[in-house]
Amino acid sequence: MRILITAGGTREYIDPVRFISNASSGKMGYALARKALKAGHKVTLISAPTSQKPPGEAKLVNVETAAQMFEAVKKHFSRCDCLIMAAAVADYTPARPAGTKIKKTGKSMTIKLKPTTDILKWAGKNKKKDQFVVGFALEDNNVRERAEKKLKEKKLNMIVANTCAAIGAEKSTVQIKMPGREWLELSKASKAVIAGKIVSLAGSIYKPAR
Ligand code: CTP
Repeated sequence: MRILITAGGTREYIDPVRFISNASSGKMGYALARKALKAGHKVTLISAPTSQKPPGEAKLVNVETAAQMFEAVKKHFSRCDCLIMAAAVADYTPARPAGTKIKKTGKSMTIKLKPTTDILKWAGKNKKKDQFVVGFALEDNNVRERAEKKLKEKKLNMIVANTCAAIGAEKSTVQIKMPGREWLELSKASKAVIAGKIVSLAGSIYKPAR
């Protein structure tokens, strides 16, 4: 398969030097890229900034913001067989980023945010032809119920649900669901093991129509 993987946490700029981001390490996305390459797939890795070392055999596309990640996914999606959205994409971005560095005034300030495009929903619900689309769901509670709602609403082929404890961690417990199949739990597994499972499930279920 030609697998498109997104990784890392996007940066949403407030001014030229400050941004809003999240604690994503990029470990999951990079582990997926390594496992997919090992399994013989072609990999394009769209990466927001991380300290991970990119696998040499992957085509690497570096991005910073949610908007840039969306542009990169739009560019590559139609030519891929499988999209795995492991990136922690910001749901909101500053509505009017300042063109120059904001000076302190000593007073409190408010930053107005506007929603970003839900890339996973765009791919799964609006653009998908025969691609296998995998999403992640990060939930504090009602994990299975909420993740299954995302699976259905975004018309995904697989959802990988985990809790906030997974952010930056070496090991995590994930729950995997595909339409018409039972939940699968990987308990306290390394990100390499989780990545291997996701890649092998996608590879065994994906049926190219072309
Ligand atoms: N995602 C995306 N585009 C966004 C935000 C998130 O494609 N603008 C993707 C992530 O890559 C992940 C999935 O959506 O695969 C789920 O992200 P999550 O934050 O759990 O859920 P949301 O759908 O954003 O909903 P909420 O934050 O309200 O739980």
